[in-house]
Amino acid sequence: MATKNFNTLQILTMLFVVFLPIAHSLNYPAVFNFAGRFSDGRLIIDFLVAAMDLPFLNPYLDSVGMPSFRNGCNFATGGAITLPATATSVSPFSFGIQVSQFVRFKARALQLLAAKGKELENYLPLEDSFRKGLYMFDIGQNDLAGAFYSKTLDQILAFIPTILAQFESGIKRLYDQGARNFWIHNTGPLGCLTQNVAVFGTNPSKLDEHGCVSSHNQAAKAFNLQLHDLSKKLQGQYSDANVTYVDIFSIKYDLIANYSLYGFQQPIMACCGYGGLPLNYNSQAANQFVSSKILTGKYSDPPFSDKISFLTSFETPMW
Ligand SMILES: *[C@@H]1O[C@H](CO)[C@@H](O)[C@H](O)[C@H]1NC(C)=O
Ligand SMILES: *[C@@H]1O[C@H](CO)[C@@H](O)[C@H](O)[C@H]1NC(C)=O
Repeated sequence: MATKNFNTLQILTMLFVVFLPIAHSLNYPAVFNFAGRFSDGRLIIDFLVAAMDLPFLNPYLDSVGMPSFRNGCNFATGGAITLPATATSVSPFSFGIQVSQFVRFKARALQLLAAKGKELENYLPLEDSFRKGLYMFDIGQNDLAGAFYSKTLDQILAFIPTILAQFESGIKRLYDQGARNFWIHNTGPLGCLTQNVAVFGTNPSKLDEHGCVSSHNQAAKAFNLQLHDLSKKLQGQYSDANVTYVDIFSIKYDLIANYSLYGFQQPIMACCGYGGLPLNYNSQAANQFVSSKILTGKYSDPPFSDKISFLTSFETPMW
């Protein structure tokens, strides 16, 4: 497989966990996130936690420099997939491993707090924060995009339930650990990623009217329909939890289709990486655009605009 260049619109498999301060309108004392960081600026998760008045999340794998995990922890890694990693995977930290890291993190945090108490309260989430925290996910893109290198579209469509079964079992493990607030991003229009356009879009007949690879977007849409169904199923099963499904695909596809309306000069470009023009991009501005749209609450099921007051942080968009 060719070396991967990721651009902004490529969100990697994430499990975010966010803990927000108790006094906050959303009542999430923390956030736990599961995603990567291929960007030359702030990512969607950075804008979201900032909008919640929380500090940026420290990654679970960054233990140097006394990081504080009081308001959450980021378990995401770039290029991670939902299904177990193989010898050729970009990242060994697949979703199941990220969930195991969370389980270990929680057990160790509670053990240390019990042993040392106040001394560590500024560094570790309190027990209550694990229950009230927001668990954020961005799942599917790397599984689908990676599959196109070895599978046909039909094979990929048939493979979607396998990916989602793995996701569901991770959510169940987290629920069993006491997680109650789930925030699930659907997958973006991966056919519009520069990497996929460059590799799979050399024949113009493969592209849609916005210059995106049709088959990739078709797979993303099929994945999202099933992910939405799964979100509703989980909400039905877990009546004491909140499951929010967020339609990232529509937000990003709108940005790509209407880029000039939103002040962008190019719809399909990478922020960084190899190859020069015509594939370069302002990733931070795009991520801020996506975040501000998420925070309108209109792209969510259930919608949440009436519950959110932290939106005020987004009154002056910068893109
Ligand atoms: C679900 O959301 C509602 C409304 O924001 C909130 O009152 C409730 O406490 C939440 N449930 C859980 C389990 O956090
Ligand atoms: C582009 O913007 C127009 C006007 O706001 C809207 O009707 C259309 O749905 C947008 N396109 C996409 C793909 O979201």
